[in-house]
Amino acid sequence: APPKRLAGRHILVTAGPTHEPIDPVRYIANRSSGKQGFAIAAALARLGARVTLVAGPVTLPTPHGVDRIDVETAREMADAVDRALPADAAVMVAAVADWHVEAVPQKIKKGDATPTLILAENPDILATLARSPDRPRLLVGFAAETERVIEHAVAKRIRKTADWIVANDVSGDVMGGADNSVHLVTEAGVESWERLPKDAVAARLADRIADALEAAS
Ligand code: C5P
Repeated sequence: APPKRLAGRHILVTAGPTHEPIDPVRYIANRSSGKQGFAIAAALARLGARVTLVAGPVTLPTPHGVDRIDVETAREMADAVDRALPADAAVMVAAVADWHVEAVPQKIKKGDATPTLILAENPDILATLARSPDRPRLLVGFAAETERVIEHAVAKRIRKTADWIVANDVSGDVMGGADNSVHLVTEAGVESWERLPKDAVAARLADRIADALEAAS
């Protein structure tokens, strides 16, 4: 059996999309499958961590040994993350909707006047956690970009005061697909990993998280 390098650590993972209701039967969503986040939760649990996985609406099975909290909206995800603290590390993989619909009405009927959606900003869960007194020692964000991937990720690490940003190039078939092509952006610089199955990206990232927590304690 592999050594349980993360035994005694609590790690928070967010994964999946969020759904933002338009009315009681409709929502705004995005193409996140949750696969990468679930794979990371599974890999961290295999290293012995206590993992809390805050999952948006996806149909994936709960990885072995992971505590899963299902949420629908970004605001529910923010509350669940808050309640799950403290954590030694947090890996924010979820593709959180940037906006929600203000004043969700009863079901909008065809034949009514064409509706106008008024959007309001969602909380930035990662940025909020970065400023929190309960900030995990290691805070990892993700960045899904279609162009100038590394440049945007380097800027995002600074702007959000995350420790690491894992930058995905989602210009191809990454969203929903089995493989991922990532760059790990840390204070020390940028590492570009070869294209790997999402499980392999997860295993490598979990090892790196174990290295970092060992170095810090
Ligand atoms: O700014 P952007 O959405 O590209 O940042 C992506 C990173 O921030 C991801 O780690 C994502 O999980 C996190 N995020 C968040 N809450 C939001 C938006 C993004 O935690 N409202």
